[in-house]
Amino acid sequence: MKGGDFYSVKGKQISLTLIAVFCTVLLILAWEKTPFAATFLLQKEKYGIVPRDYVKNTSYDLKFASQEVDTSHSGQLGQQYGQRDKAFGAPQKGLSVMNVTERMKNNEYMKMIPGKKSACDYAKGRWVADDKRPLYSGFGCKQWLSRMWSCRLTQRPDFSFENFRWQPDACEMPEFEGMQDKTIALVGDSLGRTQFQSLMCMVTGGKERPEVLDVGIEYGLVKAPGALRPDGWAYRFPETNTTILYYWSASLCELEPLSISDPSTSYAMHLDRPATFLRHYLHRFDVLVLNTGHHWNRGKFEGNRWKMYAGGMPVHDEKLADIAKAKNFTIHSIVRWLDSQLPNHPQLKAFFRTISPRHFINGDWNTGGSCDNTIPLFHGNQVSQNSSSDTVAESAVRGTGVKLLDITSLSQLRDEGHISKYGTKGINLMQDCLHWCLPGIPDAWNEILFAQL
Ligand SMILES: *[C@@H]1O[C@H](CO)[C@@H](O)[C@H](O)[C@H]1NC(C)=O
Ligand SMILES: *[C@@H]1O[C@H](CO)[C@@H](O)[C@H](O)[C@H]1NC(C)=O
Ligand SMILES: *[C@@H]1O[C@H](CO)[C@@H](O)[C@H](O)[C@H]1NC(C)=O
Ligand SMILES: *[C@@H]1O[C@H](CO)[C@@H](O)[C@H](O)[C@H]1NC(C)=O
Ligand SMILES: *[C@@H]1O[C@H](CO)[C@@H](O)[C@H](O)[C@H]1NC(C)=O
Repeated sequence: MKGGDFYSVKGKQISLTLIAVFCTVLLILAWEKTPFAATFLLQKEKYGIVPRDYVKNTSYDLKFASQEVDTSHSGQLGQQYGQRDKAFGAPQKGLSVMNVTERMKNNEYMKMIPGKKSACDYAKGRWVADDKRPLYSGFGCKQWLSRMWSCRLTQRPDFSFENFRWQPDACEMPEFEGMQDKTIALVGDSLGRTQFQSLMCMVTGGKERPEVLDVGIEYGLVKAPGALRPDGWAYRFPETNTTILYYWSASLCELEPLSISDPSTSYAMHLDRPATFLRHYLHRFDVLVLNTGHHWNRGKFEGNRWKMYAGGMPVHDEKLADIAKAKNFTIHSIVRWLDSQLPNHPQLKAFFRTISPRHFINGDWNTGGSCDNTIPLFHGNQVSQNSSSDTVAESAVRGTGVKLLDITSLSQLRDEGHISKYGTKGINLMQDCLHWCLPGIPDAWNEILFAQL
């Protein structure tokens, strides 16, 4: 977790260190005796101040509580990332992936530190070969997985990309398991939908589950007459009473039709208002994962007939009208709103997922860009930078109770995991170097999400 962001103001570090140590002592003293401690812990946990399982080892955790404060991320990551990008120019062929398991046995980077879990930077680590991956079968998960992302059902011949898991440097990844009485909501663009389908496959192990209930109607997720599909899906597992849902909101903004009667109406896209669905159902969520990013371009704005609005008025402000600025403005607005809602929804753990990287080379999606590499981790298997490559998302969550689900850099290493030329229509000239095969890279996003819960 980039929890260190909380302390990014250097001058505050010393006093915050003292506060953290004080809180830890207080908590340890109070923990076993009073219910107050439990409530207090939840609050602290939510704001990422103290590692959640600090009570396990007093001496260590006291030391650690202060360390955590020291690990604030500075803002130089753009530079670091640039450097890493350059390193891509000189790929080390063959890589050491075959030896990673070996090295793990030698404990090179598996020295687990008790109590470190919740303060760990999950984005920093490496991909390791693991024959326990994938977590479900691409043939089996038909009930939840769209054909278009199910690469096992296409002509693709190589699947070595399925056999890796993400290993953070400094923290243990728990075994993935389901949850009890929880509602997990993913809201965002089609990459959010991929993550949703991945989650459904992970929770079911890719098995058919006829008893799972379609509860879309409880969230207004029904197919409108004439529509291709509903705006989202919601499924409930009767045995655990856990609901997993996805809602399509590519910009996360409220969209308001400018004409009720005109079927080809444009929409006021209110940059400073969260999608109605979010406002409406937030109180029912235990876990919320937001994402946006790939629709912030002229083509998508024109295709969707989105007109930017802010403060209820069309945007004429030149600065804001720049789409990158508008995106930054929106992400900051949504995160700030979500943060303001957290005190009213103490059960809610809110995440903003960083952008999923694209890998088109020699062109873009519509100009012959491709991603033909099939060798896993051809350009390296490691992320060592201290901050996110998604500076917009990282800066938006800084100082808020919204956590970063930072998957950008680790996914950047996995160019072989896209749909590539193997779409549902056979071998395609237009490649998809944006969406991912499932099982595949988004499974790791969900593992990291669960580790952060
Ligand atoms: C607690 O942590 C300290 C310092 O890392 C270690 O020496 C000690 O053995 C640990 N105690 C327990 C009970 O794990
Ligand atoms: C990342 O943070 C660690 C510990 O805070 C520090 O030792 C290291 O130098 C940092 N690495 C980079 C690349 O900034
Ligand atoms: C693994 O590393 C050892 C040395 O530690 C080396 O002898 C061996 O060739 C490596 N294996 C592969 C497959 O790279
Ligand atoms: C199921 O979980 C929801 C929370 O998601 C809770 O409100 C409800 O009471 C639970 N139902 C049962 C039967 O436990
Ligand atoms: C993004 O928005 C925030 C909040 O409005 C602002 O402080 C920041 O400077 C913006 N960053 C960029 C790159 O526009």
